[in-house]
Amino acid sequence: MLQLKPLHPDLGVEISGCDLSKPVSEADFQTIKDAFFRYSVVVIHDQKLPAEAQASFLRRFGIPKISQRKEFHAPGVPEIGRLGNTKNPDGTPSAFLDRHGNLWHSDTASDEQERILGVTMLYCVSTPTSGGDTMFTSSVKAFDTLPPDQRSELRQLTVVHNFNKHNDGLLAKNPGSAMPLSAEDRAKWPDREHNLVCIHPVTGKSCLFVTPTLVKKIGDHAETESEKLAEELVAHATRPEAVLRHKWRSGDLVFWDNVAAMHSASPANYEGGERLMHRGYAYIEASAEQKAASAA
Ligand code: SIN
Repeated sequence: MLQLKPLHPDLGVEISGCDLSKPVSEADFQTIKDAFFRYSVVVIHDQKLPAEAQASFLRRFGIPKISQRKEFHAPGVPEIGRLGNTKNPDGTPSAFLDRHGNLWHSDTASDEQERILGVTMLYCVSTPTSGGDTMFTSSVKAFDTLPPDQRSELRQLTVVHNFNKHNDGLLAKNPGSAMPLSAEDRAKWPDREHNLVCIHPVTGKSCLFVTPTLVKKIGDHAETESEKLAEELVAHATRPEAVLRHKWRSGDLVFWDNVAAMHSASPANYEGGERLMHRGYAYIEASAEQKAASAA
């Protein structure tokens, strides 16, 4: 029997009473999926989840997105990527060290408007004794707590996100902190125009959809002004009382809705040892009616 325990007034629920290494019944999966949309972030402790079992669970949500970093795929399971600071015996990295994660973002900010509804799923294989927490905030609450006039203004605006801008920004600050991209790779990341306030395709709620480091333009504002507005909105969204901080334990599975929640890793200097996560993403296909309602 599944039990649900909310974790924060704005988002997050812990689900207990399930073993995801075994087939999950349709009824239990529906409970988990409903909880996912209701609470935006789901935490399930004490799982023993081989990469293939995680990929099967991920596929029940939608269409997995395969990471371009093939060298870090779990062996034989391309849907799952290794993320962390672990090394091979020869000293080369055995996982992708995401130096970018400690910025508030949505993992689908560089995707087309129709594909922003996605789940990210992290399974914790090992965690340092200090550092490496993941933080979440509700994009719904962030929008709801803005002044009414500002909410009306923001509803009229679109935001242009671009991954190359984010990657170039990291390289400019700290060469080596990101991978320089070839012209061919850059072409895979065109500008993406999103509604700054997205109507969530499943819940119908208004969500602030903005990832500051990718912002090129908001409405008719110039780039610098757009960046400033994005940062102000995210500063509001991430007020300390609005943040749910997850302290990892080995065997945790945490997954979140990238429209209804933003997230940030804490800085990647994991003082207390190895961090290794198995990460998967999937696009969630909303029904035609849901998509039409959210595009309107
Ligand atoms: C992510 O940003 O997708 C990963 C977050 C984390 O490593 O804590």
